[in-house]
Amino acid sequence: MSANTVLANAKDIESYAVSHLIAVDKALTDTISNTAKNGAPPIAVSPTQGKFLSLLTRMSGAQNVLEIGTLGGYSSIWFARSLKAGGKKGKVTSVEVLEDRRELAMQNLRNAGVKVPEEAEVLLGAGLEVLPRLLAEIEQGKRPKFDFIFIDADWENQWNYFDYGVKLSKGPGSVILIDNAVQKMLEDGIAGQGKRREDAISVVEKVGEDRRVEAVLLQTLGAKQHDGFLMALLV
Ligand code: DHB
Ligand code: MG
Repeated sequence: MSANTVLANAKDIESYAVSHLIAVDKALTDTISNTAKNGAPPIAVSPTQGKFLSLLTRMSGAQNVLEIGTLGGYSSIWFARSLKAGGKKGKVTSVEVLEDRRELAMQNLRNAGVKVPEEAEVLLGAGLEVLPRLLAEIEQGKRPKFDFIFIDADWENQWNYFDYGVKLSKGPGSVILIDNAVQKMLEDGIAGQGKRREDAISVVEKVGEDRRVEAVLLQTLGAKQHDGFLMALLV
């Protein structure tokens, strides 16, 4: 079977599964259209991935979710609703570098019935500026540590975000997920037909050497073409 056929089949299967497993939700579809209208790229997680993230959040018993890369708040809505459905008192803390996207995300969250900032806050700034601030606030006892961390921001900093994620986490039992790990490997030529960038070290290699975590790469195929999550458990 050609790669195109595999992808077409995967998309058909995803549509079929989504139609049976994921309730149609106007606030979520509005979030996607508002994000497009705002001129942001159409790179939110898919409905399947959003639901997967929300179920993982429930399964892990997470209370405080950190998201790096808000975009239009699509995944933030899934996380916030998941915490609420699990009866958790914590919140989602999402970090966004662009001011207009932060505004857009907060609007989308409110439109989805999420209380901002009580149930989800969107902090403005580059990840590497905001994360040290969060660490300082945690050390000063001003905010709780996180137990679920979703990294979905600029690819060049995936490892730095991961390392901060470990430091900002509650420790053993906490979960860190990196989006787009496969795309990054394809882009760097670590996998696929492309020429391997001389200096490319995949975050997969660094995480593999990190004794603070046990991790796995889960490849995905569907609405987001060929990609995958790197998932790590603090041990
Ligand atoms: C793309 C997808 C993403 O999920 C993301 O975070 C960044 C880029 C993309 O498809 O290009
Ligand atoms: Mg992504």
